[in-house]
Amino acid sequence: MTPFMIRTGSWDELQNDAKLIREQVFIQEQQIAAEDEWDAEDAIALHFIVLDDQHQPIATARLLNNNSVGRVAVLKEYRGKGIGRLLMLEIIQQAKHQQREFLKLSAQVHAIAFYESLGFKVQGDEYLDCGIPHVDMRLLFA
Ligand code: COA
Repeated sequence: MTPFMIRTGSWDELQNDAKLIREQVFIQEQQIAAEDEWDAEDAIALHFIVLDDQHQPIATARLLNNNSVGRVAVLKEYRGKGIGRLLMLEIIQQAKHQQREFLKLSAQVHAIAFYESLGFKVQGDEYLDCGIPHVDMRLLFA
């Protein structure tokens, strides 16, 4: 049995945990400007938080109404343990349950293999977002 639990909910419900993780990963570690990190989409997105066996938040992501997955982040010391995969599988399951036809995301280039291992495929060319190379990826539910 996995020692991790995943909570799904609104920004009102999960913002404290999501902020804690995104602050550490995107703002501190990746040096993304705070004004780029926080946007109006948070208030209407569905948010996901992975909790460890001590109920501490260790990973997060959000899913928008337009099928876009974003802000996928695992705390540095918890990476490479399958937590990102667990989180994405939950989002994929949720998307299928909601009868969405696809998921899309803007992947940081270093994470392409991570998303490919989940079935996402690259679409189009690389571009810069917040100074970081990205590429669009999509997972179709046939
Ligand atoms: N490059 C290549 N492969 C990667 C990878 C990377 N950066 N990160 C994970 N993988 C692979 C793993 O090797 C693993 O493959 P395996 O099952 O064959 O061993 C698979 O993807 C799942 O890895 P997992 O341990 O679940 O990933 P993780 O918990 O470390 O989470 C990220 C992956 C990308 C979410 C995490 O590295 C992270 O938070 N990075 C900083 C924030 C970030 O860049 N987010 C992505 C924005 S698009």
